[in-house]
Amino acid sequence: MTVEDQKSYIFQAKIDEQVPVVLKGEGTKITVEKDGETRELLDGVTGAAVGALGWGDPDVLEMINEAAKVTSYSYPAFIGNKYSEALAKFYIDNSPKGAFAAAQWCGSGSESNENALKIIRQYHMEKGNMKKIKFISRKTSYHGFTTGAMSISDNAKAAAFSDILLPKEQFLKMDVCYPYRHQKKTETTEAYVQRLLANLEDIITGEDPETVAAVIVETLPGSSLGTSPPPPGYLNGIRKLCNKYDIVMMLDEVMCGTGRVSPNGGLNCWENFLTAEEGPDIQTVGKTLGSGYVTIAGILISPKIRNVFLAGSGRIAGAHTYSGHGFNCLVALKIQEKIKALGLTKNIFEMGNHMGAKLQESLAESPIVGDVRGLGGFWSIEFVKNKDTKESFPMPLNVTRLVQDKCFDNGLTVMGNQGCNGGVGDHICIAPHFIVSEDEIETIVSVVTKSVGEIVDELKETGEL
Ligand SMILES: Cc1ncc(COP(=O)(O)O)c(C=O)c1O
Repeated sequence: MTVEDQKSYIFQAKIDEQVPVVLKGEGTKITVEKDGETRELLDGVTGAAVGALGWGDPDVLEMINEAAKVTSYSYPAFIGNKYSEALAKFYIDNSPKGAFAAAQWCGSGSESNENALKIIRQYHMEKGNMKKIKFISRKTSYHGFTTGAMSISDNAKAAAFSDILLPKEQFLKMDVCYPYRHQKKTETTEAYVQRLLANLEDIITGEDPETVAAVIVETLPGSSLGTSPPPPGYLNGIRKLCNKYDIVMMLDEVMCGTGRVSPNGGLNCWENFLTAEEGPDIQTVGKTLGSGYVTIAGILISPKIRNVFLAGSGRIAGAHTYSGHGFNCLVALKIQEKIKALGLTKNIFEMGNHMGAKLQESLAESPIVGDVRGLGGFWSIEFVKNKDTKESFPMPLNVTRLVQDKCFDNGLTVMGNQGCNGGVGDHICIAPHFIVSEDEIETIVSVVTKSVGEIVDELKETGEL
């Protein structure tokens, strides 16, 4: 094959296949070209839970123009910029008082998690706790696709690279929090939570608490597990164990944070479950921070962490070329200011909960819908072959992909994922733009319900059900 014969020049996804390409968008709709045909779709998952303001927002276009006039580039370790400072101050001011004191901005969620690991390690070194080198995260988790981020993750994509990831003895995995499958029929939620916390404490004490640096969880998981909300007492219990053993509590809110699941019109998902005093020591964010217009993500630092650095070396080693990029920070700031001014985090929280309740209702009788779970603007549907036994479909059948493609054919984007059930299992995620209207929520619910119904018919026809 010569270069001229290639169908694609992008080394990603399917190497020599042209995936659908987006041609344009307006608000919550995108126009996509697939196999030579052009179609308009309602963007039900905003790429990968990235969008907030929708496509082509006239104010954002104006802001981008203005931002380009006032900032281009400086290397942040030597010459900073006002906009990264202002964005950090915005996040701090719009989080519970005392939760955060500083931020570091970078280009992706994976990069944020990589940097968070180093910040945590340096924090312990600044305190003289040189033995703290172990990180505990969760089974069935996703924290990104760089080497460090994969090392704290647990999924098939990371497993494929296990031979070159950071040592398993140092990157430990506690039990996943997954009531739909793992809470026993006879077990109260409280007892289940206690079982999960006992598992964590056993790992900490079994490893020697003086060697454990951090516990890391996605506040509301997404692509890995489907949006299974933490039951009452779970995150609080992790907080208490971290305090007890001088361990950093890190929350990954790259997918669920920055307004997607905020109970009070704010920014953080953990505010659904924790008080300001119980908040994380360090938190990563991304996705809706730039609403897809700029590539920006970041790390939020609590006063506790910052103070230790201040009392110690007062320095962070290293920086990435595009850390704290002035243009990206200014555009993200203006986007966040607009979201706040229009009360859009409240809108997505309410619309999302409305959507979730409607999906639960409309899919209740579907023979393949095992669970509809989520919160605010982030929901998932898990598919099963047998609702009584909760048996998952065989992986090669790729039911999640069938549903994703069917939704696409019926005019809606959703995101299909596999592996929620310990390596098997199918679920789709739905995460609309913050500007989504009630009519569009009705459309999402009806297209998903129709598409799932069509897949059920096809599975019956082929004898898979
Ligand atoms: C919870 C979580 N953390 C980290 C990441 C990685 O972010 P990125 O793809 O921007 O590197 C993702 C991406 O989906 C995520 O869902």
